[in-house]
Formats: sequence, structure tokens, C-alpha cells
Amino acid sequence: MYEIIDGKAISNQIKEELRDKVKAEGLELSLAVVLVGDDPASAVYVGNKKKACEFVGIKSVSYELPATTTESELVELVEKLNNDDSINGILVQLPLPKHINEDKIIKTIAPSKDVDGFHPESVGKLSIGQKGFVSCTPAGIIQLLKRSDVDIDGKNCVIIGRSNIVGKPMAMLMLRENATVTICHSHTKDLKDVCKRADILIVAIGKPMMIDSSYVKEGAVVIDVGIHRKDDGKLCGDVDFDDVAPHTSKITPVPGGVGPMTIAMLMNNCVVSGELN
Ligand code: GUN
Repeated sequence: MYEIIDGKAISNQIKEELRDKVKAEGLELSLAVVLVGDDPASAVYVGNKKKACEFVGIKSVSYELPATTTESELVELVEKLNNDDSINGILVQLPLPKHINEDKIIKTIAPSKDVDGFHPESVGKLSIGQKGFVSCTPAGIIQLLKRSDVDIDGKNCVIIGRSNIVGKPMAMLMLRENATVTICHSHTKDLKDVCKRADILIVAIGKPMMIDSSYVKEGAVVIDVGIHRKDDGKLCGDVDFDDVAPHTSKITPVPGGVGPMTIAMLMNNCVVSGELN
């Protein structure tokens, strides 16, 4: 029988721990949340981030800018926030409108306030094992595994997907935990064979229900990072849950698996930023 890894419960537990810490230590924290344009999904994410701040006891300061905002106006705002001692963390919601270079904006955020962990300095520190901010989704997956008593040390971990936000930092974190790590992508040969060797399979490909049981070793732990809306309006992941779950020892559902962890880890990074700034 397999176990469902309950990301909602674990994320709530982390947010409660953070709330208690903020209260006990009297931390005064403030997160600047910048949203450019009117992408409806981004508006929902930003709303959820602000709600989580309120729960944990972090002040959120909102900047909602029109889609016509220029790159230099956004750079100017980020620089102002960098120099504002009352702000601990800066989050610029992605994607940005096409006329704004995301890399340039990410590079402008002060590394000491980079609660998303996207700045090249944060990424570099993660790669060489130094302390710094870690991208929230992969950091959340480590928490899901640890808090579900999954042993990582020495295990074969296969990650499908090589994005800067999930796949690559995920590989670095699993390496830090002493896993043997393989990253797969669209050019990988014999993907099924590679996945079948995984003790821990982390799927972040962005294709609805692509991974069925023929990719999964009996008893593996499966983490599904994908989230998609099906024609019937229901949500699904990159993994065909009903087909795969009976072959696993533990698996994350969609929704209620990885998703809620991203915001919990953002809150964690905000608390860490208060200790840095
Ligand atoms: N867009 C989708 N995910 C994220 C995230 O984790 N952070 C930011 N800033 N934008 C996103």
C-alpha cells in the first residue's frame, strides 16, 4: 500500500512553525511583492503569497504595476526597495511582460533580499555548498521528503526537467543530501529505462499525465511538480496518479502536493532574510 505525501498538511505545519518563531523572537519582517501586468494566474499566486504573509506575521507591501511599465521603471523600483531598510525580501512575480528582460530584473534584486533564490549569486552559492537563498519549489520538495521520512542518502534520484527554477536547483539540493543524481530532459535517450532506475523520481516536465507506471520502479517515491487544468476543469500533474500510485511507496498528489510547499518555503526565506538583513 502506498502513502500519499500530504503537502497541504506539511506546508501548514511549516507556516505554523514560522509563525511561532516570528512571534517568539519578535521579528519584524516585511516582504515587497511586485506584480506587473494583469496575468490572472499571477494575480492568484500573489494573492496567496500575501495571505501566507498575514498568517505567519510578515508585513507584505504590494506594488501592482500596469503592463505598460518599462524595464527602467521596474529597475528603479527594485533599486529603491534594495535601499529600503524596512524591506527584508523582494519578490517580483514572473513571468514579466515580454518587453522586460527577466534576467536583468532578477540581477537587480540585492542578493541579501532575494527570497526567490533566483539571483545568479544565490544559484552560485547553492552550487558550491554555501549558505544562501534556495529556490522555493525545490527547497519545498526536500522538506516533503524529509518530513515524510524518505531516506535520500545514497539513493538514485532521477529528475525530469532542467529549468533554472526547479530541475537544476533540485539536482544541487539532492546532491547536497548525498543522492546519486541524474537530470533528464527532452533529448534524453531511453527516458523510461533511466526513470525505472530511480528510487526517488521527481517529475517537472510540464506535460499533463505524461508519466505512467511504465516509467516507475516498484516501490519508488514519486514527486509530481506539474500542475495543469484538464478539459473537465479538474487539476492534474505531470504524473498519471491513478496508474502510478499503486506502484510507489510514497507519492505526492496534484493538487495538495508540491504546490502548497512553494509558498511555505517563500515564508521560510522571508524569515531567513530577516536574520540576514
Ligand atoms: N512564477 C511562477 N513561480 C514563481 C515563483 O516561485 N516566484 C516568482 N517570483 N514568480 C513565479
